[in-house]
Amino acid sequence: METILTGVKPTGIVHIGNYFGAIKPAIDLMNSSNAKFYFFVADYHAMTTIQSAELMKEYTYQIASTWLACGLDPSKVCFYRQSDVSEIFEFSTILTNFAPKGLLNRAHAYKAHVEENTKKGLDSDEGVNMGLFGYPVLMAADILLFNATKVPVGLDQKQHVEITRDIAKSFNSKMGKTLIVPTELINKEVATIVGLDGRKMSKSYNNTIKLFASESELLSSIKKIVTDSRLPGEPKDINNTIYTIYKLFATAEECKSFEKDLLDGIGWGDAKIKLFELANKKLQPMRKKYEYYINNPMEVDRILEEGALKARPTAKETLHRVKCAIGINKTKL
Ligand code: ADP
Ligand code: TRP
Repeated sequence: METILTGVKPTGIVHIGNYFGAIKPAIDLMNSSNAKFYFFVADYHAMTTIQSAELMKEYTYQIASTWLACGLDPSKVCFYRQSDVSEIFEFSTILTNFAPKGLLNRAHAYKAHVEENTKKGLDSDEGVNMGLFGYPVLMAADILLFNATKVPVGLDQKQHVEITRDIAKSFNSKMGKTLIVPTELINKEVATIVGLDGRKMSKSYNNTIKLFASESELLSSIKKIVTDSRLPGEPKDINNTIYTIYKLFATAEECKSFEKDLLDGIGWGDAKIKLFELANKKLQPMRKKYEYYINNPMEVDRILEEGALKARPTAKETLHRVKCAIGINKTKL
């Protein structure tokens, strides 16, 4: 049986790029397969960027409430906070010894930081902490502890799963076959979702549409979508940002009718209203659920705690196996 595991960092307000690119595909997988599932909030991973107790709390409840509002079923998935499974961190310490420094030097996030420093004429280690440098090892611990076979991630995370594989293979070849070697699951059908300015939607570009914006916020975000200067009455190019986002929410029939409107010369203002009406209709039921969870943090805590309780026996079992393999095996299950 497959074991499917993925984590999302609580690092900011969730946008529709996160939803269509990561959350929805994972929920669809949960609904269509009877694999074993582990979805978690990667709070310790977020610490490379979020170093404020207030923000950590806020974003953690937001991301957990988002998963639940989007249809995560806690009876089908072990859904937990990374920080509630302390075996991950013990395992991560063991794995550091199987993670060559040279391999971590090449990890994209760390390498990009060093390159940026060099470009600015700064010391190459300026602003680099061991959390950033060791990030891929902690991620390997997340994955290998639960014997994951498949890891759904965006393209940007592919290298981290490759590093996980290298670490697992190194451990297995030195200590005997102990760990399952996972593969990444990259959904090629989900193209990069575009933002208000036509670039990749990302909180770093400040071009997002928040998944759970209020109606008025949603409308004002949509009004900011950049268009060309064609006037009402002039036929519009079908390759435009409004329609690209519209398609994410629309049925084939709705798409056809919108295309006709564009070719018939609908004004950009009216096209934006159409997008707002559709997106608002589709997001409303999830928004209601989101509001419920965000206003009931104790229930979210209970769900996450129960998820950790369900996840920990497997975590303990793997850690025991690993400790036996390395000769530190006093641990009783
Ligand atoms: P951001 O770029 O806003 O900082 P994150 O890096 O936190 O977003 O991404 C969280 C998840 O959402 C990742 O799995 C990532 O692949 C996915 N994701 C983010 N932005 C997009 C996008 N524009 N299109 C598709 N998937 C995205
Ligand atoms: N690094 C991932 C991201 O930035 C989040 C993450 C942490 C993760 N641990 C994981 C994803 C394990 C998949 C599996 O999006």
